[in-house]
Amino acid sequence: MSRILAFNWKMNPTTRSQVKELTATLQEMTHDQLRSRVIVCPPSIYLSSLHDQQEKLPFHAEIGGQDIATEEQGAFTGQISAPMLQDMGIIYTLIGHSETRKYQHVSNQIVKEKTQQAFAVDLIPIICIGYTHEQDQDVDYDGLRTEIQAALDQDDLHNKPCIIAYEPIWAIGTGKTATPEMIDEVFAFIDQEVQALRGETVPLLYGGSVNHQNMNAFLTIERLDGFLVGGASLDPEEVKAMIKIMEEDAQK
Ligand code: PGA
Repeated sequence: MSRILAFNWKMNPTTRSQVKELTATLQEMTHDQLRSRVIVCPPSIYLSSLHDQQEKLPFHAEIGGQDIATEEQGAFTGQISAPMLQDMGIIYTLIGHSETRKYQHVSNQIVKEKTQQAFAVDLIPIICIGYTHEQDQDVDYDGLRTEIQAALDQDDLHNKPCIIAYEPIWAIGTGKTATPEMIDEVFAFIDQEVQALRGETVPLLYGGSVNHQNMNAFLTIERLDGFLVGGASLDPEEVKAMIKIMEEDAQK
C-alpha cells in the first residue's frame, strides 16, 4: 500500500547549504519507482529554488507550501497566496497547522477561508487538526468536529481533494506520541465526520514526534495513509531511514 510521507520543515533550515544537503538526500532517496508519496513543505523563501532544482536534478518528491493567505492577492505583507503556489506548479499546502493557530491566531473561520482559497485553484490542502490541550491527552471530540466542519463544510467546493493531518498538540515536537489505538479511534471519528459532510472519506495522516524509530508501530494502523513529520525531516539520516521504512512497508 502506498502511503504519504509529508515533511514540514517549519522555519528551518536557516542556511542554503543545509537546504542543499536535504535536497541532495531527497535526490538520493526519491526516484520514479518510489511507491510512497514524499511531499516537502519548506519555508516559502525556499519554494522556488527547490522547485527549480526539482526540475534540474530531478528528485521525485512533491513540494508544498506551509500556509496560504485568505485572499488571492493584494496588500497583505508577508503572505503568499494560493494562486501564487498554483502558478508555480505546486499542488499542496498545509493549512491550519497548530503553530499558525497558536502564533498567528489562525481561527477555524480563517482555516475555512484558506481552504476555500486552496480549493478554488485546485491546490490540495493538508488540513491540520488536533484539538486537544497542550497538557491534557484526552481527545476533545467536539473540538475536532468543529475543526473538521470549519474546514470542510464548504458551500460549493466541498468535494475537492484534500488531506487531513491529525496532530495532537501535546505530541508536536515533544517526543511524546499518540498510541496506535488512540489514532485508530480518532481516525474512525474523523472518517465519520468527513463522510457525513462529503459522502466520502479523505486520506488521513498522523503527525506528532514521528521518527524512524516509532514509525513501524503506526504503520500497523490500517486506516493510516501516512505521516506529517516535523523535526525528524530536518535530519538527512532520519529522512533516509524514514523513506526506507515506508518503502519496505509499501512492498508488504
Ligand atoms: P514534529 O512536528 O514531528 O516535530 O512533532 C510535526 C508537525 O508539527 O507537523
